[in-house]
Amino acid sequence: MKRYILIASGIFFVILASYFISRVAYAKGKLSKKMIAKEKILAGLKFGKSEFYSTNLGTDGFSCAKCHVDSIGTYIPAAKKVVRSLKGVAAAFPRFNPKTHQIITLGERLNMCVVHVLKGKPLSGQKLNDLTLYVTSLSNGYKIKGYNAEPSPVFKNADRHPKTLQQALTLGKHYYDTPLGASGKSCDSCHPGGGAGILGGKPTKPVIGHAVFYPKYKKWGKIITMQDQFNHCIYTGEEGFKKKIGSKTWKYLDLYIYSLSKGYKIKVGK
Ligand code: HEC
Ligand code: HEC
Repeated sequence: MKRYILIASGIFFVILASYFISRVAYAKGKLSKKMIAKEKILAGLKFGKSEFYSTNLGTDGFSCAKCHVDSIGTYIPAAKKVVRSLKGVAAAFPRFNPKTHQIITLGERLNMCVVHVLKGKPLSGQKLNDLTLYVTSLSNGYKIKGYNAEPSPVFKNADRHPKTLQQALTLGKHYYDTPLGASGKSCDSCHPGGGAGILGGKPTKPVIGHAVFYPKYKKWGKIITMQDQFNHCIYTGEEGFKKKIGSKTWKYLDLYIYSLSKGYKIKVGK
């Protein structure tokens, strides 16, 4: 009898010990994943900063930093005006222009300077995302301006070609609620009302307030923008359904999602 108790308690201690060892290994794995993420985001920021100070993005010998230095503003004779620093600028993007009825994202805005001011080719992919990350980091701590107008509860045909801010947000919300691929899932299926939902028994992330983290590093190895996140979400749920960055659907969704984070402080590169 005594022997059995001894063996049983021996087995018990072995199980207990292996449980604790595996917990420690798990915690270490989590920690090193966190450290990798930290290193990657810092590398993205560093590369973005080097782009900002580089004269190689264009052909006229200028760098972004030449005009947009980290101060109140610099007088640029070539532009015949005082150009503002980019501090706080990211808080006002994506922007709806009521005159042209167009949405412009931060990435598109800075590419306008690349093309028209630096006389270079527009950036794309990681190069664009890294520069966007760096420029956004200059707005850390600033509250996302977003938009106040409430999307109208009824989606009308006129909203398909938005002329007003309310129509633009209504179209964004419409895309949010519409099934976007073969499986019939919409953004709202997984993030109901902008909050967290359930997917395969696990909670999804909320959308409200989370625009402040973009561009962000993702564990599959890239710095991504909000529109990349949409593609990731839909790609996972919809077996290959994807939209082009800058497509109409993604831009209106982008505007809508950032407005859901109105008033939250930007926090990138952390
Ligand atoms: C020759 C000067 C010059 C250079 C170089 C330049 N810009 Fe600009 N940029 C401007 C001017 C002028 C504006 C219009 C806003 C203003 O007057 O401050 C502007 C506007 C912007 C805006 C929008 C600001 C807002 O509030 O809407 C962003 C973002 C921006 N630039 C990013 C960049 C980036 C990134 C680079 C490098 C790729 C760059 N710029 C290079 C002159 C320049
Ligand atoms: C099949 C379910 C599913 C669908 C459909 C879906 N998402 Fe997601 N979404 C997730 C999950 C799970 C996460 C958390 C993991 C991740 O980031 O991939 C997430 C993360 C996010 C995040 C990031 C939150 C954060 O802090 O990291 C945003 C923003 C988001 N989704 C927006 C959207 C939008 C907009 C749509 C519609 C285009 C959409 N999602 C469609 C499941 C989904």
